[in-house]
Amino acid sequence: MSKEIDPRKNTETARGYGLVIHRSVRDIPATTRARFAEENRSIRERTERFGLAYNEHIQKSQQAILTTADRALSRAPQEKEKTALILGSGNCLDIPLAELTDRFDKVTLVEIDHQSTEAAVKKLSPEQQQKTTIIATDITGVVADFAKRMDLHLNRPMQAFLARAPGSVAQFDVTGKGLSVGADYTFVSSQLVMTQVSSLPILSLREKFFKKYGVHLSTQPGGADHELIMALQPKTIGLQQEHIRQLARLVAPSGTVHFADTVTLFKYSPFSKEPKRLPVSNPQFIVPVIGEQFTSPNPQGDAWLWNHEPGKSQFLVMAHSFDPKP
Ligand SMILES: C[S@@+](CC[C@H](N)C(=O)[O-])C[C@H]1O[C@@H](n2cnc3c(N)ncnc32)[C@H](O)[C@@H]1O
Repeated sequence: MSKEIDPRKNTETARGYGLVIHRSVRDIPATTRARFAEENRSIRERTERFGLAYNEHIQKSQQAILTTADRALSRAPQEKEKTALILGSGNCLDIPLAELTDRFDKVTLVEIDHQSTEAAVKKLSPEQQQKTTIIATDITGVVADFAKRMDLHLNRPMQAFLARAPGSVAQFDVTGKGLSVGADYTFVSSQLVMTQVSSLPILSLREKFFKKYGVHLSTQPGGADHELIMALQPKTIGLQQEHIRQLARLVAPSGTVHFADTVTLFKYSPFSKEPKRLPVSNPQFIVPVIGEQFTSPNPQGDAWLWNHEPGKSQFLVMAHSFDPKP
């Protein structure tokens, strides 16, 4: 069952924009929260360092978001308030925040690491800030429970962790836990969020494991942590499928959804002409769920390469514009 957020109980008002800090964020262990903040700090640092190389990705992302937002505005009933919801807003570097606040009556930004989003919102004009609310929450509703569950096992010697954690992960249900951050939005954006919501809890576990035992968890099956890797895989997929269903629950029947994510990572090396291709998402499990929930005026979507680390790595990004199925 999804839980409701009551903004009246949480809103702190002494600022131009609204800020709702949900209990789900306070329940997340500090080390896990720090991991999200560190990821966003690193995005800011790379965007500054690789400025020109990132321009195309940022421009294409912003354009794709605005195209789908404009489609929503042209379809929305005239008398209805026009609302936009941006999931995983982070630093808003690839989100055209000023343009969205100009176009919509209300813009809601959802992010665990709300300080990074606040920094972006503070750059808006007072009128634009008035229309903006940040909801600090965990979109999945599972981050705190997962971290606490793993922390219990991390108190044991490594062999005991590797023996007990896989069973505990297997029993952990990731479905139906997402927090409700409203509904009936004219426009919903999920920009490079799906793979992150499913991978950050695991990245955080990796970091804690290394700090505790001084060795890295492997990323591939076949090692000493094989059972754990096998138990984590279906949870990653389950979280991604939940994310798609959540988008369908949030959008109005006449609304639209912008959905973009990284699909493939290309890694370049001086020792090989061809880059290594590493899959990032799981299309075989995601595409059927998208088909259950949405149609699209352009089913192929748009694709571009993001020079993530120029000369070393590139992501293939795919962006889609969805309409909810009646
Ligand atoms: C790839 S980033 C988006 C980048 C962002 N647009 C920017 O310019 O920095 C994905 C965002 O989703 C947030 N996120 C990941 N998992 C989340 C969760 N479970 N709940 C809420 N936000 C989450 C991350 O903190 C991050 O800010």
